[in-house]
Amino acid sequence: MIAIATASQKGGVGKTTLCINLAYSLAKRGWRVLLVDTDPQGGVGLSLTKSAKTREGFHEFLSRGGDLGKIVVPTRLPELEIVTSGRQETCAREDWSAHEMPARMADLLRGAELRGVDIVLMDTAAGMNGTTEAVVKACDFVVLPQQAEPLAIRSVPHLLETLARYRSEGAGVRVAGILLTMVMNEQEMSLKVARELREMLPANLMFQQSIPRLPSFLEASALGVPVALTKRNPPPEALIFDQIAADLEQRTGLSKEREKEQGHASLLD
Ligand SMILES: Nc1ncnc2c1ncn2[C@@H]1O[C@H](COP(=O)(O)OP(=O)(O)O)[C@@H](O)[C@H]1O
Ligand SMILES: [Mg+2]
Repeated sequence: MIAIATASQKGGVGKTTLCINLAYSLAKRGWRVLLVDTDPQGGVGLSLTKSAKTREGFHEFLSRGGDLGKIVVPTRLPELEIVTSGRQETCAREDWSAHEMPARMADLLRGAELRGVDIVLMDTAAGMNGTTEAVVKACDFVVLPQQAEPLAIRSVPHLLETLARYRSEGAGVRVAGILLTMVMNEQEMSLKVARELREMLPANLMFQQSIPRLPSFLEASALGVPVALTKRNPPPEALIFDQIAADLEQRTGLSKEREKEQGHASLLD
């Protein structure tokens, strides 16, 4: 099992949109996925389940621990399960102590592994402190969605420094990649930022794919579904997440795991 967090300094960069669509693609590709909403604002839960604000979830687990099974919500895809953020009162309280968080995160990941989950995908609140810091530190990988705007040239190195500091403090988290979001393909500024970032960063640190800014993403979040489910036939932008999922499998070593499994199966046949 691997745990992947998404993180960004700013809000509104498309983290939650990425998590929902990527979780769906990974589940469609056969992985057992647990999507965990660690943002007190609860974007994942609010878009996917109506009862999210009254349901116990991640923040109750953080404050009391307990049985992960009780807070897991099934979806229509058997491979995809969700843990919502938690009740509004609990999320607002933030009275869990910081030093208990690493142990609770470890419990959560152990619980997920016992359920047979392959990938835990964690959506986070904007910023790199408090709960998000504990979440990112507990994960094996982090994906960094980044808006294609001029500020990115300064904010991406800063974010990478923060992650390097986490590692120097003993966390094992590695950057799976930086993913450009809300790219306006017809706008020179957006394309220029994308080009400059690719030139500035180590080769391969950025995902080949980027997520375009399109009205269909707004529609999808209003409907509370991945973009693939907004139409009878998935729109072309849904395929982007399948490509990102495939790339992520390579970047995290998941594809090797699958090859190994398939290898065993063919020996037995
Ligand atoms: N690629 C996109 N194109 C157009 N709108 C988007 C896109 N990604 C996200 N949005 C919209 O922008 C808003 C913020 O996105 P969200 O995923 O919630 O960001 P974050 O989780 O980083 O705060 C939402 O209303 C969402 O529907
Ligand atoms: Mg969000």
